[in-house]
Amino acid sequence: MSFHDKVIYQVYPKSFYDSSGNGIGDLRGIIEKVPYIASLGVDMVWLNPFFVSPQNDNGYDIANYYEVDPEMGTMADAEELIAALGREGIGVMFDMVLNHVSTEHEWFQRALAGEKEYQDFFYLRPAQADGSLPTNWESKFGGPCWSQFGNTDLYYMHLYDVTQADLNWHNPRVREELFKVVNFWKDKGVRGFRFDVLNVIGKAEELRDATPGENDKLIYTDTERVHPWVQELHRATFGDTEGTVTVGEMSSTTIDSSVHYTNPANEELDMVFSFHHLKVDYDGAEKWSAVPFDFMALKGLLTDWAVGIQAGGGWQASFWNNHDQPRAINRFGDVERYHAESATMLAAAVHLTRGTPYIYQGEEIGMVDPVYSSMANYVDVESHNAFDILRARGVSEDEAFRIVTKKSRDNSRTPMQWDASEFAGFSQVKPWLMPTSQTEINVEREEAEGVILPFYRELVRLRHEMPLIAEGSYEPFAREHESVYGFVREHEGQRLLVLCNFYGEDAAVHLPAEFAAGSVLLCNYKNEPALDAATDAGTLTLRPYEAVAVLAG
Ligand code: GLC
Repeated sequence: MSFHDKVIYQVYPKSFYDSSGNGIGDLRGIIEKVPYIASLGVDMVWLNPFFVSPQNDNGYDIANYYEVDPEMGTMADAEELIAALGREGIGVMFDMVLNHVSTEHEWFQRALAGEKEYQDFFYLRPAQADGSLPTNWESKFGGPCWSQFGNTDLYYMHLYDVTQADLNWHNPRVREELFKVVNFWKDKGVRGFRFDVLNVIGKAEELRDATPGENDKLIYTDTERVHPWVQELHRATFGDTEGTVTVGEMSSTTIDSSVHYTNPANEELDMVFSFHHLKVDYDGAEKWSAVPFDFMALKGLLTDWAVGIQAGGGWQASFWNNHDQPRAINRFGDVERYHAESATMLAAAVHLTRGTPYIYQGEEIGMVDPVYSSMANYVDVESHNAFDILRARGVSEDEAFRIVTKKSRDNSRTPMQWDASEFAGFSQVKPWLMPTSQTEINVEREEAEGVILPFYRELVRLRHEMPLIAEGSYEPFAREHESVYGFVREHEGQRLLVLCNFYGEDAAVHLPAEFAAGSVLLCNYKNEPALDAATDAGTLTLRPYEAVAVLAG
């Protein structure tokens, strides 16, 4: 499959490079940095939305799908960016937000003005008989998911921010309009599509309350309506075009649903993003908590998903970071004592597994969460809502702030750190979000003397060159080990063992004879382990955060 040997680089346009001097990243800034992107060897660049938007949810609240937000550039810039990447053999993946639009979008505005035709674009419902909201579901950003529709008796649904109105996919006109958007960009040469929260498009027409104790999300997530609509999207847009790459962002999904979305026989999507492995540092189901991660849970999820998706003939996106997640190195690594080791170990776990790897900007130089001192430093709407909700629940101000520092989406949205200067070489003026670690961590320094960037380049090269890595099967290894995550890849008689130590202490692993007699393909320490030394005792001792990949002899 054309996407198995690809590596995708995610650029958050608002924070990549500010060429215009307004403190906000822009498309021309990305064009200037194309040589850097090309130097990574990646195949495609996923760009977060840069369409016209009031930016209440950083561009995921789209007011016009067909125009570039003036703060970030023009249509000519978008076309030039597509061409500039294309000249380097790099495709572009655009972010298609098809579950909702900004309440400033013309459709919502016309609905508000009373046009029935556009009212049918949304989920508008009256209150229930007892006066309560149409359903008791929560918005994912906190509070109820219904707000009053203008000055009518109706409410509109917003599963996200109050300014993001959910679109009614039951209406064929809505689907037609959304498919037009995808085709518009496809006609401009866009070959990758990331579909935002695609598995929540299938709300029923007859809505119902969650019963006490029932998870409201499960009522509207991955419903049976979603698959036919995704198949329709496939047929109406990218399905007939060679070389497209598609990925659906799937919130709270299951292995079975993910197989259904990605088994090629179903003609839906190439791969999915799922997030269970990034919830292992939640206290129960509560994201807004600060507890250490549960390694056995993480390992169990990585293993079960890899095995389950493979068994069903599906495919996954393999990733730790994106614009919604705190930096993985802060969550699962040790940024103080083993910065480079933990950055590279995490990279090996993602890039050597079965699935298409994604690199989120800055990850390849080991960027970490910022160190901020007050809520005023944060921009993200979800973080501010969460802080208020925690405070309202009686959590102290210090504790609520500490939780935000661990979980805020702004952790990954800080500007790309190009050099050690005051604004990290991102902008000439104060950026919209401040960098705090650029004196230690930046591209210039990493190019000159770092080990993380070269390691990423090596991982990209290996996936391109070795069908074993791109296509090989996945089999769990040392499942019960309490500090090492391992797996074996196999392809046409070749076998590769990958071992990742997730802790700052040495970890002994029993090495099967075929690998003790093998050779080291890759290691994140300068001195590779001596395998034959392991043969006698039968054990290989991994150093802190060591990652090693061994080809069977
Ligand atoms: C996705 C995006 C996130 C956005 C949300 C609503 O989860 O990744 O940034 O807030 O959808 O569009």
